[in-house]
Amino acid sequence: MNPSAKHKPFIFATVSGKGGVGKSLASVNIAETLRLLGYRTAILDVDAGMANVATMFNVYPPYSVTDWMEDKCRLTDVMVDADGITLVTTANEPGPLTDRHDLLIQALDQVLDALAATHDFVVIDTPAGLGELNLWALDRSRLGAIMLVDEPTSVSDVYRFCKYVLGIDPTYPFAVIVNMAESDEAAAQVHEKFNTIVKYFLQTEIPSMGYIPLSNTIRDSIRKQTPVMRMDPEEELEREFSFIAQNIIALAREMQRRDLQRSNVK
Ligand SMILES: Nc1ncnc2c1ncn2[C@@H]1O[C@H](COP(=O)(O)OP(=O)(O)OP(=O)(O)O)[C@@H](O)[C@H]1O
Ligand SMILES: [Mg+2]
Repeated sequence: MNPSAKHKPFIFATVSGKGGVGKSLASVNIAETLRLLGYRTAILDVDAGMANVATMFNVYPPYSVTDWMEDKCRLTDVMVDADGITLVTTANEPGPLTDRHDLLIQALDQVLDALAATHDFVVIDTPAGLGELNLWALDRSRLGAIMLVDEPTSVSDVYRFCKYVLGIDPTYPFAVIVNMAESDEAAAQVHEKFNTIVKYFLQTEIPSMGYIPLSNTIRDSIRKQTPVMRMDPEEELEREFSFIAQNIIALAREMQRRDLQRSNVK
């Protein structure tokens, strides 16, 4: 994919069954890796009321999507620049509109269209679980990047998450990112453990997109409110985020190629 070429953007969502497993951390640093590679990248934080992607960039958006819905600002006012990445926050804090998922979804569709028109990649950072906004995000995405950590509760929650979505769409394009991995072997084992369950009960397999090491530099980066990929991190972190980003770019190219073939056939 040529960053400057006119093409359909690639939208993907980071999702999980359980909270606090690193969805936002992954969204921020995969986005930053894509930006460093020259792609126009945006993050849409749909954790309505508990948004924290902007905090991870030390950015304080003056307006959120719910402000726009209440006519307090223009659509362009909710798009905030975080040193080259466009950030959109659905709601900074809980309010009368944060539970109106029907209205939120209508607004988010317009926001996503606006981001898609001007970016190569849009990352949708979701809250944990299977609420309406998660299902909306998956529906609009071409990849559901599931965060998995080496804990029985994470494995069983991710399994239930996938079972539910694959029950609706058996071909939904999921891929696993193992977070907080002690080593690449440990990450491969967690992925394998998860896939054994998925194969047995769901008769399918979910590929791996890569892993994120358990790292004090990552914890530090969160305290410093700077993406770790902006902090000249150790080689392993740089290598693993690049690996994940390259996998996403390859998938985007493949889907673009298929779309092109399909439109040529028509
Ligand atoms: N690879 C890692 N190494 C060390 N600490 C990590 C790593 N990934 C995440 N963390 C820690 O876990 C915390 C939670 O991460 P994050 O906010 O990205 O999770 P989340 O899945 O988005 O949570 P929520 O479900 O609340 O949205 C971080 O603040 C950080 O302290
Ligand atoms: Mg989060």
